[in-house]
Amino acid sequence: MRQGNFTIIKNEKVANNTYFIEFAGENPEFSSPGQFFNISLPEHFLRRPFSVCTFSGSTFSAYYKTVGKGTSLLSSLSVGTHLDVLSGLGNGFNIKNAGARPVLVGGGTGASPLFGLAKALTDADITPVAVLGFATAADAFLISQFEDLGIELIVATDDGSLGICGNAVSALPTDYSYVYSCGPLPMMRALHLASKTEGQYSLEARLGCGFGACMGCSIETKNGPRRVCKDGPVFYSEDLLWQTLV
Ligand SMILES: Cc1cc2nc3c(=O)[nH]c(=O)nc-3n(C[C@H](O)[C@H](O)[C@H](O)COP(=O)(O)OP(=O)(O)OC[C@H]3O[C@@H](n4cnc5c(N)ncnc54)[C@H](O)[C@@H]3O)c2cc1C
Ligand code: FES
Repeated sequence: MRQGNFTIIKNEKVANNTYFIEFAGENPEFSSPGQFFNISLPEHFLRRPFSVCTFSGSTFSAYYKTVGKGTSLLSSLSVGTHLDVLSGLGNGFNIKNAGARPVLVGGGTGASPLFGLAKALTDADITPVAVLGFATAADAFLISQFEDLGIELIVATDDGSLGICGNAVSALPTDYSYVYSCGPLPMMRALHLASKTEGQYSLEARLGCGFGACMGCSIETKNGPRRVCKDGPVFYSEDLLWQTLV
């Protein structure tokens, strides 16, 4: 984890209520896709967490949806604004379990960390298939970036306005070696029930400290209580007590 002052270098609308934000600054500390960063916003006591999409030695990005006061304020901030950010938080996706053809299943903004994961997999000469689900075509984002990776991409929308009509789980391919997922909990629960393999799932919780100190984000797992912010947000499906997750 590293606390630093980072500068917004991009903050633009890419879809319905959805923004792409990129920061630059010294040594953001990410080591794997699926980790997150936590932004301190003016006049907001609690930081706001976002999964990292892409990262380099001096930049990192995310896609976020405006759902309340904090994200609305974030969307109004201009390029050049400096913010206090905790980078490199949590445990991200482990690509060692991927096998030859992992499937990446994203719902809504869950597509964002999966794009970073898709890049990490292709860099490691593993070709995943991605399934992205959105409510409607106007909500879809990252489509061309996934296509540019040269991997198979299946898009599903609830109303059929783009790609297959249905949800991401209904659009799963028949053959895959492992599952990686990020999205709404009901989608991931249905995916876990439908999937033929184990997998890694990125969970969300309301966070307090965001770095493991307050236990405010604890969930019960088969191995005892675990903190979403520190032990996750990515968890192995076989460790989760799915019926207890809310
Ligand atoms: C590890 C982690 C990674 C995340 N990554 C992303 C991301 O990549 N992109 C993205 O758009 N969002 C992401 N989120 C969710 C994001 O942090 C919240 O949407 C944001 O903090 C809401 O702030 P707000 O002030 O706008 O909303 P608030 O005014 O605080 O809340 C508005 C509404 O959103 C709900 N809400 C707020 N935070 C959460 C949460 N953490 N989980 C579920 N519901 C919530 C509230 O219950 C309320 O209904 C992530 C959350 C976590 C914990
Ligand atoms: S939010 Fe404090 S331990 Fe997770």
